Amino acid sequence: MSDRIDVHVCEVGMRDGLQNVSAFMPTAEKLAWLEAEAAAGMPEMEVCSFVPPKLIPQFVDAVEVCERALGIPGLTVTALIPNLKGAERGIAAGVHKLNFVISVSESHNQRNVRRSRADSVADFRRIVELVRSVDAGKRPKLAVGLSTALGCTIEGEVPEAEVVHYAEIMAEAGADELAVPDTVGYANPAQVRRVFRAVMSAVKPLPVTAHFHDTRGQGIANALAALEVGVVHFDACLAGLGGCPYAPGASGNIVMEDLVFMLEGMGLRTGVDLERLIAVRAILERALPGVPLHGGVGKAGLPKGFHPATAPQAHAAE
Ligand code: COA
Ligand code: ZN
Repeated sequence: MSDRIDVHVCEVGMRDGLQNVSAFMPTAEKLAWLEAEAAAGMPEMEVCSFVPPKLIPQFVDAVEVCERALGIPGLTVTALIPNLKGAERGIAAGVHKLNFVISVSESHNQRNVRRSRADSVADFRRIVELVRSVDAGKRPKLAVGLSTALGCTIEGEVPEAEVVHYAEIMAEAGADELAVPDTVGYANPAQVRRVFRAVMSAVKPLPVTAHFHDTRGQGIANALAALEVGVVHFDACLAGLGGCPYAPGASGNIVMEDLVFMLEGMGLRTGVDLERLIAVRAILERALPGVPLHGGVGKAGLPKGFHPATAPQAHAAE
């Protein structure tokens, strides 16, 4: 993490958000979003999934989107992968980071990626081998998202011991980073403190990202709880887009603008220019008619006299 920021935020709307939007967002609009948000100082964006286009047609233009994203100086470009084939496609596209997904609950893993957790682990070991065979200069980082770590719509409560168990397995297998998502928005702040403490101490010194959905209104409270136990990597979506097509009732991610507002207001630098970030919502408004845009700050504006921790334009020279 750059020493010019205190908390690293990653925009996941182009993946987690758009996978739940049935209308195709025109490629030119995706590129406009990408460029505007990167220009606002966003340090990392998950820009697509390498899944079968038949399954999620929204990502049929993944290669083109990655290509443009990789041309933006300073932006870390990440893509979700569900399997080895996805890893091969992600490596061919040249992304900086691959986000592999495995669900901690067996039934959600079956529903999401159509195989057992054991098969996902075995596939991940092959992905690690593949990634390590790539020339050092082109080798992507490998992150693992432990889906349903904080609750599952099929199985209900997910035991903390299982979460730690899979965190350890994936770290031992070769993950560079982990993410603990609340895929379906079941978590509360006390649980977040417990689970993040346990996972972070199990996989130290690997970075652990918090990924919250706001399905039950707990998202920003959960982000604060994670921050309080030392989490400094957060995913969020512009305007709170998002969900999981294989988790019934799941809804959007926490709102990036509100997260950045909270962090910056608390004196923590994100490197993001909040006013410019808020302005990017206009692209979604234009390109995704009928899709609800969420967020307090985006609707109400910044408070009079608000002083962000990141100096406006401080990122411009990066
Ligand atoms: N990208 C493109 N094509 C892929 C692919 C990938 N990552 N993985 C598999 N395929 C192709 C195969 O080559 C095969 O093609 P063919 O029919 O022309 O031979 C076809 O898809 C079926 O392959 P198979 O390995 O049997 O996959 P599956 O049908 O069992 O589906 C997944 C497994 C993992 C590909 C699918 O369940 C998936 O993509 N899940 C992710 C869902 C998601 O994005 N969830 C939200 C994010 S958490
Ligand atoms: Zn998500």
